Amino acid sequence: MIGTGIEGYRDYLAQRDGDADLLHRRLANREEFFGTLEADPVRSGRRIDRQMFLRNLRRRRPERGLDRATLFLLATAKLNQAERFGVDLGDTYGRIGREDEPPERVYLALEEHYHTRLLAYVLDIFDLPFQVVVPPFVMRQFVKMEVFLPERFGFPFVGAAEMAGCIMFDELRRVGVELFADEPDVAARIDRLYTEILTDELGHVGYCAARCTGAERTVMRRLYPIFGRLFVRQTAEISLLTDSKTLRARLDRPFDVEGLAAGLPNETFVAAHP
Ligand SMILES: [Fe+2]
Ligand SMILES: [Fe+2]
Repeated sequence: MIGTGIEGYRDYLAQRDGDADLLHRRLANREEFFGTLEADPVRSGRRIDRQMFLRNLRRRRPERGLDRATLFLLATAKLNQAERFGVDLGDTYGRIGREDEPPERVYLALEEHYHTRLLAYVLDIFDLPFQVVVPPFVMRQFVKMEVFLPERFGFPFVGAAEMAGCIMFDELRRVGVELFADEPDVAARIDRLYTEILTDELGHVGYCAARCTGAERTVMRRLYPIFGRLFVRQTAEISLLTDSKTLRARLDRPFDVEGLAAGLPNETFVAAHP
């Protein structure tokens, strides 16, 4: 963590992401990062049944008896869909790039764009396609609320969702690394992709916290475990992959910024403690 507050976060974003090109939805350093990944593709030797994957992608609850690897990839794909839905909706309604917007907002929106791509790269290791699927009804309403809430009220809500998102990404990262321990390059690639997302999301949590008043931060902290449980309920695969009691206990403990940041090899920046 370098410096404090939103000013420090702006500098951090410029350094981490490089130039932001809103028109082409590109961040210079992110493109470079993807370039290095593409130059060094990783393929798993494990065969995932493509038809079974695609069929279950459109199901609310997965079919019985799916193996953990397929469940992990379904969870990855579905988290992706909720993100994509929100990002595209925000785009459609012109939520980014307004004249009066502070510069970090463009970075945040573009980072979210890249999360879809980062998660799609996880699927690509298994030769699975990225497909657009509409997230379940409750998730759609949730995402819409996040997108359309006036900014002033929005920060505690968006911040709580970002906090809950961090936990989901952290859990899936751990599950993915464990599941593919027998293929070290696959495990390392999954770790790498999830790490990038988690680094961004921790930054988003700090940014939202920095834009909140003390009372709003209290709201943010209170909503966080509620949103976390909602995400788990809405993504059945996550509850099948994790121990529900342990995950619930984790969500009930105070959000551990330091613990999450310590698990990341990247430089992180949290503008304010939630
Ligand atoms: Fe995200
Ligand atoms: Fe985020």
